[in-house]
Amino acid sequence: MILRPLVAGNWKMNGLRASLAEIEAMGAAYDDALRVRAELIVCPPATLIALAREIATRGGLGVGGQDCHAEASGAHTGDISAEMLKDAGASYVIVGHSERRSDHGETDADVRAKAAAALSAGLTPIICVGETRAEREAGDALSVVGAQIEGSLPADAPAHIVVAYEPVWAIGTGLTPTVDDVAEMHAFARERIEARLGGGKSGDVRILYGGSVKPSNARELMHVANVDGALVGGASLTAKEFIGVASAY
Ligand code: G3H
Repeated sequence: MILRPLVAGNWKMNGLRASLAEIEAMGAAYDDALRVRAELIVCPPATLIALAREIATRGGLGVGGQDCHAEASGAHTGDISAEMLKDAGASYVIVGHSERRSDHGETDADVRAKAAAALSAGLTPIICVGETRAEREAGDALSVVGAQIEGSLPADAPAHIVVAYEPVWAIGTGLTPTVDDVAEMHAFARERIEARLGGGKSGDVRILYGGSVKPSNARELMHVANVDGALVGGASLTAKEFIGVASAY
């Protein structure tokens, strides 16, 4: 089955109200033909989600959060629930990004619980996996990612979840895997997703590639078999670059 590609922009801890002008410009550049070819969403900091929603919707883009708590509400100072993100206008949420795993010690079990919370709140989780440089150099990339998929996806997740393969060593470094390595990993990821979810669901799960995607390499990376879109960091901060990436479709 041919899946509609998803190009998701992760603004990380970047963006103030003035940055909403970039979402306005993304909408202006997201023409009808591109809308048919690919779905675009922006995941700004939580402070901007409600403001971004109206502008993004007008331009045909969706909005997502960057993380959510595993519980629906309660005494968790500084955290945000999936329901709150939904209420603010998000339809997606990134969970298990490597920066969350490294900065906050999140485990696969934490990520799985967050993904389940997202689904319960009616959000689509974008579940991130990926090996470190040391793991790749040791020849362990496939086994690490396989274990992350097994541990981070709720076993009863529906097929509309999104999985993002982001080699940690490619994030923000300008380095990317070879297309052969991406093809090998994405084919393997789909097999492991099928083993986890069963029922032929994996064919409908979009598997994004993330890590130093930019306009100049997007066409090559996005057309690898089993790559159903991109999770874009730095190049999602301006309309020019983000639309440049999406235009690979
Ligand atoms: O979530 C996005 C990724 O971490 C990729 O970031 O495109 O800046 O390398 P990057």
